[in-house]
Amino acid sequence: MTSPVVDIDSVGHDYATRQGVQQVLRSVSIRAYPGEMVCVVGPSGIGKTTLLRIIAGLQRPTYGTVSVAGKVLNGPSDSVGLVFQDYSRSLYPWLSVLDNVGLPLRAGLSRVERLERSRAAIHEVGLDAAEAKRPWELSGGMQQRVAIARAVAYRPAVLLMDEPFASVDAQTRSDLEDLTLRVRDDFGQTVVLITHDVDEAVYLADRIVVLHGSPARVIAEIPVPFGPRDQLETRGGAEFARIRSQVHRLIRFGASEVLTSEEIPCVS
Ligand SMILES: Nc1ncnc2c1ncn2[C@@H]1O[C@H](COP(=O)(O)OP(=O)(O)O)[C@@H](O)[C@H]1O
Ligand SMILES: [Mg+2]
Repeated sequence: MTSPVVDIDSVGHDYATRQGVQQVLRSVSIRAYPGEMVCVVGPSGIGKTTLLRIIAGLQRPTYGTVSVAGKVLNGPSDSVGLVFQDYSRSLYPWLSVLDNVGLPLRAGLSRVERLERSRAAIHEVGLDAAEAKRPWELSGGMQQRVAIARAVAYRPAVLLMDEPFASVDAQTRSDLEDLTLRVRDDFGQTVVLITHDVDEAVYLADRIVVLHGSPARVIAEIPVPFGPRDQLETRGGAEFARIRSQVHRLIRFGASEVLTSEEIPCVS
């Protein structure tokens, strides 16, 4: 059997607050397999960003372990590329698009290789004509495309995205969703995308992981059977509506109250 690229094993997280210990995540186990797009959904405040920071190696879990590409994480890993919601803070305003994208490229690459990789990533996101511009000369959607190019330029095995399209308008959001699918297909990344937006998760995911409760745990994993996606056709279909309503009910009521066991394909 194929090994998972991301293996989140029984992760729990507590924050120490002035009121005492706040348990945010409990026994969260999620696996993502090569080339898979896994979308983790849950409402605001449930612990999604905490989980993403743990998968990125930016924060240590209180319990459990995370392995990426077969190695247990002990800190940030260069197998992981990150895209956050707030593109305006993730790019360096004084650097050109080309230099922003090239910045994290691994030491050990020659200047020519760095340029080649940066330009390939910039081309992938359709920003060839803007490579000499500074981020503040670009629209929000274009800045987020730069952030995506930067995250994939050094070809990490995993792309982690935290609400990446939450700060752009609806049309730009659709464009960025399709761009993310294309980048995944062309560069072969395994993607873990975290969002509160159920429609976005159903549109993008090969598998949806639903978080629920406080502390949050995984209450369902829902495979999404669509082939190549199309914003109008996929979203307009009956299967889309069915999965969407299933995920909404899970988020709202949890697993046991509303679903029979056949309705939850796999519950961890
Ligand atoms: N650094 C921190 N210290 C203390 N509590 C935190 C910290 N970061 C997040 N929290 C708390 O953990 C919970 C989950 O936050 P977060 O992971 O940001 O959720 P989400 O991304 O789903 O909105 C919230 O109650 C938040 O206040
Ligand atoms: Mg968050």
